[in-house]
Order: sequence, then structure tokens, then C-alpha cells
Amino acid sequence: MEMELRAPGKLILGGEHAVVYGQPALAMPFAALAATIRIERLPPGAGLTVAAEDLGKRWRLEAAEPLGALARATLARLGAAEPDAILRLSSTIPIASGMGSGAAVGTVLVRALAALCGQELAPSEVSSLVYESERAFHGTPSGIDNTVIAFARPILFQRRDDGAASIEPLTCSTSWTFVVGDTGVASPTREVVGDLARRRSQAPSAYEAPIAAIGALVEQMAQALHHDDGPAFGALLDANHGLLAELGVSSPELDALVAAARAAGAWGAKLSGAGWGGVMLALVAPQLAATVAQSLHAAGAVRTWITKLEPSL
Ligand code: MEV
Repeated sequence: MEMELRAPGKLILGGEHAVVYGQPALAMPFAALAATIRIERLPPGAGLTVAAEDLGKRWRLEAAEPLGALARATLARLGAAEPDAILRLSSTIPIASGMGSGAAVGTVLVRALAALCGQELAPSEVSSLVYESERAFHGTPSGIDNTVIAFARPILFQRRDDGAASIEPLTCSTSWTFVVGDTGVASPTREVVGDLARRRSQAPSAYEAPIAAIGALVEQMAQALHHDDGPAFGALLDANHGLLAELGVSSPELDALVAAARAAGAWGAKLSGAGWGGVMLALVAPQLAATVAQSLHAAGAVRTWITKLEPSL
């Protein structure tokens, strides 16, 4: 049996960082980029190998690496013995870029193991396995990345005080166009989140207001999306970027791309993901997308994408 599975990247439209502290956030899948696994069955006794094609690395099931631990946890959840197969993993999602590379790789690994064992896991089960793995290896993730990628649909996400997550599908009735610009600066999420957590623990009151203000903006974003109000949503993106800069997670490169998108006529723009590097996004009228993308390149973007948030049921 040969089979290929994929999981998309993700974009956070609003609420990153604040979501770690219990505020709501909006995210959508980013299907232009994906993690992919090709499954090849092997003869009995061969055991499981994960081959990360892009990195030239291979793991066995007993490996201490995060993917070994995730594979073991998944097989335990499935109640299955070690399968005899090689999982050829590759990803077009740049690592440490704010687009969910780790969660996409984890999601496609869990799905591949379920498929190998002849089982299907619900998106919530896939998401919780990936979340546990991210928690073990990456500190204090909110769970938004694994959730939006496992559910593969736009969501309003909030982690509640009891640790459970509330997940609401996001709806809009027209197509929305976003231009994404990559600074090309690698920025591991764990470091940015950890740095903010340290600064916040030293002066909690200085961070309370911007974090709460981001949560309030996200509620308004969901309303603007619901009412198909692009200009209002754009203004909220701008405000969200300002608050993220106040939290100390922007960078000169991100600020330059955000400013260039606005100057080229975007309705609004902000960094997306953990910040310090990685990507930003801009909401644009469709006819302006190519111009905004060109301006982003001129302002230093190493790559740009035009992506749509399509009407959902
Ligand atoms: C990373 O995609 C989003 C952050 O809010 C971290 C998290 O939610 O775990 C920065």
C-alpha cells in the first residue's frame, strides 16, 4: 500500500500571544503550504521508520525526538502495535516562520499512523495528541495551531481556565483576500513565547491591558468577518499589530512589511504567529493583491503568497 496524506499550514488572523493567556484568537488554514507523508508498507518485522526527507534524518519508533514520542502516544491511543512501514515526511512550510510547521508535521504523522492501522481519528483526537506533544516539547502552547490544522477550517479559539478549549467555526459570506509576506527571519515560537512570559512575570500589570485589549479586538474581528466588513477588519488588524508591538514581539523587518502593505492600499496589516520574524499578513481588496505583494517584495519580503478565506457554511 502506498498512500499520501497532507496537513495545511496555518495563519493567525488575530489574537496570537494573548491566546496563551486565555484570550480568544482567530486562525485559518493556509493550504498553499503543507506537510506531507507518503506511507510505504514494509515486510513484517521491519518496524516503523519516519524519514524526514527535507532534513535527511530518520527516526525509529523508540527515538527520543518529539516525533518518536508523538508516534508512541498515537499508537497507544489507537491500541495498535508498531506497524511495519516507512513514513516519508516532507514539508513546504518554512520552520520557525509562524505558519504552523510543527503542528502540521505532527498532524500528518498522527493521521498516517491511524491510516496504517486502518482507523480514523476525529479532528479533536488528532488535535489533542498533537497538543500534548507540543506541550511536552515546546513549553506552553495555547493549542490554536494544532486545532486549526487538525480541523482544517477557520476558527475562533479560546483556551478556558479549566484547560479545555472552546472552538467556534468562523463564517463569512464573501471571499476575503490576504497577502502574506515572509521576512525570511527564522524565529522559534517557543523563544518568543518564553521571552514574553518572563517579561510578564516580572511586571504583570504592564501586560494586562494590552493582552485584554487584543482579546477585545478579536471579538470585534469576528463580528467584522461575520458582517463582511473588510475595511473594519483591516483597521482591527492594524490595531492588533500595534498591541503586538507593545508586547515586544514585532521586529523592524515585520514593521517595514506591515507599513509597506498599508502604503500600497491594504485595508490593514499585522504580524502573524509568534513574531520577531516569520510572516505578516495584509487584508486587501482582491484587485490590489498583486500590487501589495510587489510592495512587500520591495520592502524586503523573501516570499509572498496571495490566499483567500472562502465563504463557509
Ligand atoms: C503561535 O502560532 C501562536 C502563539 O500565540 C503561541 C500559541 O498560541 O501557542 C504565539
